[in-house]
Amino acid sequence: MPKELMKKIEQLKKERNAVILAHNYQLPEVQDAADYTGDSLELSRVAAKSDKKVIVFCGVYFMAETASILCPAKTILIPDPLAGCPMANMITADDVRELKARHPKAVVVGYVNTPADVKAELDVCCTSTNAVDIVSKIKAEEIIFIPDKYLADYVSKKTGKRLIAWEGYCPTHVKILPEDIIKKIRQHPHAKVMVHPECRPEVVELADEVLSTGKMCVHAKKSHDKEFIIGTEVGLIHRLQKDNPDKKFYPASEHAVCPNMKRTTLEKVLWSLDEMKTEVRVPDEIRKKARRAIDKMVEFT
Ligand code: 13P
Ligand code: SF4
Repeated sequence: MPKELMKKIEQLKKERNAVILAHNYQLPEVQDAADYTGDSLELSRVAAKSDKKVIVFCGVYFMAETASILCPAKTILIPDPLAGCPMANMITADDVRELKARHPKAVVVGYVNTPADVKAELDVCCTSTNAVDIVSKIKAEEIIFIPDKYLADYVSKKTGKRLIAWEGYCPTHVKILPEDIIKKIRQHPHAKVMVHPECRPEVVELADEVLSTGKMCVHAKKSHDKEFIIGTEVGLIHRLQKDNPDKKFYPASEHAVCPNMKRTTLEKVLWSLDEMKTEVRVPDEIRKKARRAIDKMVEFT
């Protein structure tokens, strides 16, 4: 890690009373510079509990917004405001309002990978960790599930419930193909396969475990298995390998790179702290509504 750069970051972090959070898909050097690494919701919870005034959120835009929804009194900075999530941006608040008008009795469940104004239209938010649990507890006849059609398919199969899904998907996870998994199993016959539920159904079918990034970290630690094929964004391999030096982790596909997650560099983290940019603040009216959907998720789980 560039020592000079790190020294400056540490110094500014103290001056600004800041904490650095990095998603599991961030570049290795950004993960190593962070105070905490985790999945999207874990990081928002860390942000809410932190006694620091400034949060540098190294991830994508909706994650920084979620932190702002959960801790409005803090200053949330994103080192690169162009780091968006293409899947989150595949649906708008207008789209959700239209869906609700077409299915007035439906309960609307939305993945945390959504913009704040879309969250404000939801009945309940979910993450890849708790989506199955939440949908299984909903009593309504009709359930709308947005925006990921593959997560919807997985949840529908696990719960036996028909879901009204949106045509969204993650452009990074769809790059992982069933033939990639088959090839890696041939190369590493003792390895267990863990995949993210954003993967294609044909990939999910080949997995031993279907887990969020946070749960993959937990599972890798407690499992007696020593080798794993990882079907998610390649950045997670750094975290897994660091936490489990005695185990081996193979990416299902080297092509599963999220370009938006890789926009954040150490230099941008330094600029962000130096110039206190770019602040992400969700307007109060939207924040209060979006917060209801997140609180409902906590209530359900
Ligand atoms: P996690 O919630 O598992 O961190 O996933 C976020 C994400 O963007 C997956 O592609
Ligand atoms: Fe969005 Fe996919 Fe990147 Fe996750 S990996 S941030 S879902 S585009």
